[in-house]
Amino acid sequence: MSALDTSAAPVAPATPDDVPGWFFRADREAFAHLLSRQTAAGTTGDLLELGAYLGRSAILLGDHLQPGETFTVCDLFDLDAPDDENSAEMSMSYRETLTRRAFETNYLAFHPELPVIVQAPTSVLADGRIPADSCRFVHVDASHLYEHVAGDILVARDALAKNGVVALDDYRAPHTPGVAAAVWEAVFTLGLRPVLLTPEKFYGTWGDPDAVRADLLARDWRGEGFRLDEEHIAGQVCHRLAWDEPEAVRRPAGQRSLSRRVALDVLPPFATRVVRRALRSGRKAA
Ligand SMILES: C[S@@+](CC[C@H](N)C(=O)[O-])C[C@H]1O[C@@H](n2cnc3c(N)ncnc32)[C@H](O)[C@@H]1O
Repeated sequence: MSALDTSAAPVAPATPDDVPGWFFRADREAFAHLLSRQTAAGTTGDLLELGAYLGRSAILLGDHLQPGETFTVCDLFDLDAPDDENSAEMSMSYRETLTRRAFETNYLAFHPELPVIVQAPTSVLADGRIPADSCRFVHVDASHLYEHVAGDILVARDALAKNGVVALDDYRAPHTPGVAAAVWEAVFTLGLRPVLLTPEKFYGTWGDPDAVRADLLARDWRGEGFRLDEEHIAGQVCHRLAWDEPEAVRRPAGQRSLSRRVALDVLPPFATRVVRRALRSGRKAA
């Protein structure tokens, strides 16, 4: 904590579910399953998360960290964004709640040590500070702008070891077309092989997709009540996995309603400012 930080200490969460974020059951289970399979097979490697917010997904990744492995998270937290569009995205979705201190409090409620924290735009990771071929799992969940995500995907590609897995968030959300563009560009021009699609995340590998798929399908997802379907995309096989959650569960805990968030996320910045002012004062937007 800095000497000038006089804000009240954040309250530590009692369970990981108390941590706000956008990390839902199908993805929590897919992360846990793929990471556990790697560990059971003796596959070691570092973990990397781009975009941690208040730590909801980082806490789960930390559960799977093995002795000798390094977990790195990169996030702006309370830093200024590198450009205006990213800054608008930060103001709209994260600024009201996000501080590095809150992330650290949440993470330390479940783990004895913090991960390596890079508080900076994810673009700094292109400098090679994450050793090539060092990671077994990378979660990309930071900026939603095409140029940033395309860069984050290159960082993930260089960081991942053989058969390592990348999970790319928001590859199909209505308000994140730039992520979709970057993800499918990587499939068609950078050799990224899809393995699993959930409503929120795309999972792929630059290694052997059959090996990752074998791990994925080693679990009886349907028997546990998940929906699992096989898809064929431009000659590549992958699976869709979903868990039907009620809307109330999908809403980030302690945050605005999904309908309010969607309304804000799909509007252009000027209209968004008008709606936010109206919502704050309890009036209907003009
Ligand atoms: C959707 S949230 C991450 C959610 C988190 N993974 C979870 O599951 O709860 C996106 C995060 O990316 C961070 N972010 C946005 N743009 C960024 C950038 N250019 N560089 C680094 N972090 C960024 C934001 O501060 C925010 O914490």
